[in-house]
Amino acid sequence: MMNNTLIAIKYIVLFTHLIFMTQLTTANNRFPRIITETHNQTLNISSTAILTCHVRDLGDHHVTWFKTNPSTTISSPLAAGEQLFTADKRYSISFYSTSVKDSFWSLEIYQVNLADEGTYICKIANRKASVSIYIHLHIQIPMIIHPTYVHAEPNTNIILNCRLLINNEYVDKRDVTWIFLSHQLNKTKFHDVHIRKRLSGDSLTADLVINHTQMNHTGTWACIYRQQLLSVKVLVQKNMLTHQRASALLSNDSYRKISSIYVLLFLVLFIVDEH
Ligand SMILES: *[C@@H]1O[C@H](CO)[C@@H](O)[C@H](O)[C@H]1NC(C)=O
Ligand SMILES: *[C@@H]1O[C@H](CO)[C@@H](O)[C@H](O)[C@H]1NC(C)=O
Ligand SMILES: *[C@@H]1O[C@H](CO)[C@@H](O)[C@H](O)[C@H]1NC(C)=O
Ligand SMILES: *[C@@H]1O[C@H](CO)[C@@H](O)[C@H](O)[C@H]1NC(C)=O
Ligand SMILES: *[C@@H]1O[C@H](CO)[C@@H](O)[C@H](O)[C@H]1NC(C)=O
Ligand SMILES: *[C@@H]1O[C@H](CO)[C@@H](O)[C@H](O)[C@H]1NC(C)=O
Repeated sequence: MMNNTLIAIKYIVLFTHLIFMTQLTTANNRFPRIITETHNQTLNISSTAILTCHVRDLGDHHVTWFKTNPSTTISSPLAAGEQLFTADKRYSISFYSTSVKDSFWSLEIYQVNLADEGTYICKIANRKASVSIYIHLHIQIPMIIHPTYVHAEPNTNIILNCRLLINNEYVDKRDVTWIFLSHQLNKTKFHDVHIRKRLSGDSLTADLVINHTQMNHTGTWACIYRQQLLSVKVLVQKNMLTHQRASALLSNDSYRKISSIYVLLFLVLFIVDEH
């Protein structure tokens, strides 16, 4: 009994010593590593950007942040450790550790605007070595598309609605448009497709109106605004149940529910018929 306790104590002491030694050597020999990889981050305007850098073995080094100006490609320092170099009150630094080795350093930007777009660099350096990663921040204007799937009969009219929530941002009406992503576009030009744009206080709307839908309107249509793109799948097809030509705009969930009820009804009738 006594013996076992002694052995246990001996192992605990040895183990603690080992951990202690490992930490010492880590602190002495290893240059920090950045675990986070270079990536893109897309945010809506006015939201909060949290750019995080996961660091291992930071020791007494500092995590520094730089921003590259896209037009001049000059990088200017934003922060080193907890110290900010910018007077912009929207910026702050936060950090926390999950273990002795791992810490997470975040550059936070409140109320992002279009000027915040660009490349942010998370960097750890001393005179001998340096590591860094890039976070490309894209700021977008909130965009909503409705519906996202349309199943229509030939010769009906459909309207696809695309809306940019612009609030007070300046946007050029000409920058928003609709395109047909499927291949036919290059070969042919549609006659019955119109784009209607409206600019109101807080939104810019671009409607795609397809009059007299044809099979060849089937495909993916996309609303684009600069680098932003949202798409709609359109399927123009004669319904199996040709008698129902009731709905012109067959686009939403209620339609899908109704259509499955029709299919069910059809099957039931079919089965009843068989007997
Ligand atoms: C970031 O986005 C750009 C286009 O905006 C793309 O070319 C690039 O491959 C993306 N990079 C990563 C790491 O996803
Ligand atoms: C941006 O806003 C739109 C509309 O409110 C929303 O659907 C979308 O998920 C948001 N995107 C991001 C990246 O937050
Ligand atoms: C249309 O054709 C041009 C050249 O013929 C090509 O550059 C372009 O990518 C094509 N567009 C689409 C959407 O296929
Ligand atoms: C699409 O099909 C309709 C009839 O099937 C035809 O009249 C029209 O020219 C076609 N449009 C294009 C752009 O190919
Ligand atoms: C196309 O359809 C829309 C919606 O039904 C209608 O308001 C418009 O007058 C039609 N335009 C043409 C050119 O037929
Ligand atoms: C869905 O479509 C039905 C009929 O086509 C229409 O009455 C209803 O208002 C639509 N719902 C939405 C959310 O658009």
